[in-house]
Amino acid sequence: MGVVIAVISGKGGVGKTTASANIGLGIAQNDKKCVVVDFDIGQRNLDMILGLENRVVYDLVQVMDKEASLRQALIRSKANPNMFFLAASQTKDKSVLESSKVQKLINNLKKEFDFVILDSPAGIESGYEHTIEFADVAVVVVNPEVSSIRDADRAIGILDSKSQKVKEGHDVGKYLIINRIIPKMVQSGEMLRSEDILDILSIPLIGKVPEDKGVIDASNQGKPIILNKNSGAGQAYQRIANRLCGQDIPIYDIEADEKGLFSKLAGMFH
Ligand SMILES: Nc1ncnc2c1ncn2[C@@H]1O[C@H](COP(=O)(O)OP(=O)(O)O)[C@@H](O)[C@H]1O
Ligand SMILES: [Mg+2]
Repeated sequence: MGVVIAVISGKGGVGKTTASANIGLGIAQNDKKCVVVDFDIGQRNLDMILGLENRVVYDLVQVMDKEASLRQALIRSKANPNMFFLAASQTKDKSVLESSKVQKLINNLKKEFDFVILDSPAGIESGYEHTIEFADVAVVVVNPEVSSIRDADRAIGILDSKSQKVKEGHDVGKYLIINRIIPKMVQSGEMLRSEDILDILSIPLIGKVPEDKGVIDASNQGKPIILNKNSGAGQAYQRIANRLCGQDIPIYDIEADEKGLFSKLAGMFH
């Protein structure tokens, strides 16, 4: 049976959808079969980031309602044959999801895929609760800013009280991604340090992703940044995916990268 990973944040616009697309491809590049599911009902954009918007015919709500089979609705990635995508419904609102139907869909996906990645909607409403309900693991995405950390803390609270695994007496695995780090701003004290964020949230770090202008271009072109081997964010997502696949890779300290160190040294002589 595959592992179900919910990508969550509490706050919107922090990088969940970007992370879902890139982690999915990164896992596929580890030769694992992976499906990325858009749970952001009514606001889908994962299809665009993956460059698959023209291929969407059926969505997950139609599969749940037996208007289409899973096979009909799954769309294979153009970038990697190990990766598939299941679209959110654009027309129906979030309240269309029902626990029993969500559970059935996820169980069917777990039988076919090594990893099932669920991209959650913003907020901590019912759409969010359905995304975390049957997850084995949550990847929590935050930006280094107070409002994002506070909302993530709330989302973790709900995860720890409402997910099926917790109801059955187990723990849900939790991993933190700190996204959009600008090393210079951390060094100058204008941006929260990773240590401080980890102190507040108290969950293990699985990766730090730098602010990278290439991310938006890549998303607009439907070619996730991980496909660009020279990009800092792309490399960071690949390391995160490799860690999720069980590889033991130390966390790369992007705040203290060469450039940062150089400017620090240069500053000492001014
Ligand atoms: N590391 C990054 N560097 C620069 N821009 C980013 C980065 N991660 C995400 N973004 C941008 O931030 C915006 C929100 O990202 P998105 O993944 O849609 O967030 P969410 O799904 O949490 O609402 C998008 O425009 C995306 O391109
Ligand atoms: Mg999103």
